[in-house]
Amino acid sequence: MITVKDKTFVPFLDPNELERRIKELATELNEDYQDKSPLFVVVLKGAFLFAAELFKYVTIPSEITFVRLSSYETMESSGRVKQIIGLEESVQDRHVVIVEDIVDTGLTMAQLTAQLRGKGAISVEIATLLHKPEAMREEVDTRYVGFVIENRFVVGFGLDYEEQGRNLNGVYVLAEAPEEKDTKEAQPEGNKGTK
Ligand code: IMP
Repeated sequence: MITVKDKTFVPFLDPNELERRIKELATELNEDYQDKSPLFVVVLKGAFLFAAELFKYVTIPSEITFVRLSSYETMESSGRVKQIIGLEESVQDRHVVIVEDIVDTGLTMAQLTAQLRGKGAISVEIATLLHKPEAMREEVDTRYVGFVIENRFVVGFGLDYEEQGRNLNGVYVLAEAPEEKDTKEAQPEGNKGTK
């Protein structure tokens, strides 16, 4: 059991499990993108450890770049959209693989994939360490998923709780208060994970 700020978390995915699964994802990517020289677009901050582990096992010709998404949103015809910060490479005519920590409602990934396609990418796929299907509000095709998890708040291996806990080398899940045990609604109020 560990404490991050005011919350208690319990072990959920240990470093060995994470490494084993991430290696498998890299193998899949090596096969699928053999002749495509993909550009991996890592979404900071949350995906930095996942990306580092994944990229160790990517053996095909490829490039990696790191972006952040603005915390503010601007109005566009498609609604409120977070802007991509720090994308210096052109994605025109490229195969892009987004590297993300967790797909929760899917809104972030829906927007990012649309924006990258709008910039002329030939293909855009998502590689996410974690996926919470029960929380999905926006349909996104998550082609490469490390672990499907239930709708509970997790921290560690890059993911934060109010900016802390990213340094934990495994993934931890919020401990359930005894009265919450039946409902499994163990998320802290709001979604306190930040990018
Ligand atoms: P969404 O899919 O647009 O709802 O947002 C996904 C983002 O919310 C992720 O990239 C994380 O930064 C954050 N997030 C969602 N669930 C969690 C969690 O359980 N722990 C930490 N951050 C989370």
